[in-house]
Amino acid sequence: MMKEIVPVPPAIVHNQFESVRELFTKNVVPSYGRFDVALSHGSGSEVFDVAGNRYLDLGGGIAVTCLGHAHPAITEALVEQSKKLVHVSNLYFTEPQGRLAAALVGGIGPGKVFFCNSGAEANEGLYKLARKFGHDEGRFEILTALNSFHGRTLAGIAATGQDKVKKGFEPMTPGFRHIPYNDLAAARAAISPATVAILIEGIQGEGGVSPATAEYLQGLRALCDEKKLLLLMDGVQCGHFRTGKFQSFQRILENIPGGGEFLPDGLSMAKSLGGGFPIGAFWLRAPFADLLSAGTHGTTFGGSPLACAVALSILEVIKTQHLADHARNLGAWISAELDRLVQQYPSVVKNTRGLGLMLGFELAEQIPAFASSQQPVSLQFCRRLHAAGLLTAPAGAQVIRLLPALNLKPDEAAEGIAKIESVLKTIA
Ligand SMILES: Cc1ncc(COP(=O)(O)O)c(C=O)c1O
Repeated sequence: MMKEIVPVPPAIVHNQFESVRELFTKNVVPSYGRFDVALSHGSGSEVFDVAGNRYLDLGGGIAVTCLGHAHPAITEALVEQSKKLVHVSNLYFTEPQGRLAAALVGGIGPGKVFFCNSGAEANEGLYKLARKFGHDEGRFEILTALNSFHGRTLAGIAATGQDKVKKGFEPMTPGFRHIPYNDLAAARAAISPATVAILIEGIQGEGGVSPATAEYLQGLRALCDEKKLLLLMDGVQCGHFRTGKFQSFQRILENIPGGGEFLPDGLSMAKSLGGGFPIGAFWLRAPFADLLSAGTHGTTFGGSPLACAVALSILEVIKTQHLADHARNLGAWISAELDRLVQQYPSVVKNTRGLGLMLGFELAEQIPAFASSQQPVSLQFCRRLHAAGLLTAPAGAQVIRLLPALNLKPDEAAEGIAKIESVLKTIA
């Protein structure tokens, strides 16, 4: 009898963290410090790595995956719109872009919207608006806050109030100066004859989850009116219902006398707007909306029918499932639980801050369990969280951020707190 020849399958190298990492080491520009996790797929707020380990995702891709992973509404919008039109140039009108612009204007206030592809690019549009606004008077300088983050383009790092993003890329793009955040007197004192705008985040994200105060927002509005400056806001991370309102300033100023009348002159958006599909936008208040006239600004992919269809479907889900209220209420519960952890583990957790589902807790500068490593305590804590099956992102050296999907379930929030507490127990 002939010996049966059993074909030997080709060596398939897959489902291995090391092999994925090797692809990166050899082929991907090493500009990111990455954790030793290679993700494969997810559903809702659960995500799995290539080895099959399950994680609870409370980082949400840094405030991006607002409906979690593999949401059917996003899949359906992608499939259905891609059967019709994926892209046309901005030489033409398309209905999804117009409808999305109307929805964003409806959520913010009278004005108009420009579409782009990322947060940094949305902010670039605001810088260009400011330049155009001040051009004939020779005004061009934009004041931004210390500890702010506005993106990684050349103007973005000049605008960002953190030295670490600028280092090695000098000289900086001119026209940006930094002021202390939440300090109205400092803003007033910093205004020069060249100043044309002030740009701030409603809640500083990368800077460690620090909300602007209501007095600061209202004070800046009055100051900008008095000095004929544009008040620009970066809503890239803190926007899109994360705080319980569409934009963070609407949440910060709710129930404040006169708060309902507050509007910035320009506002950037990205991240959760597309739930993971790249899209950015900026809104301009009505008096300034036509300053960027035909031929002055553009981008090939901005406002593609596909991106806009996805963004529209996300807005619909947020509305029909009341996810803004959910974010507010679940965020309040998580925040209270984090406060409890501050009380219980004071040697490790110093304080908590944030609004809705944009939360952070600050770790002690020195944590004995982490003393043997030079790495920031926030990174070391994140690694422990990963080992406990929880993904989230640090902000700076001491803050851990929670930026989960807006449809995070209450039992998932409880699971997250339990995982955080399990890590605290091992290091307190
Ligand atoms: C407040 C803020 N602005 C701008 C950006 C830049 O956005 P992108 O990375 O999409 O360019 C970020 C990104 O983290 C951000 O948090």
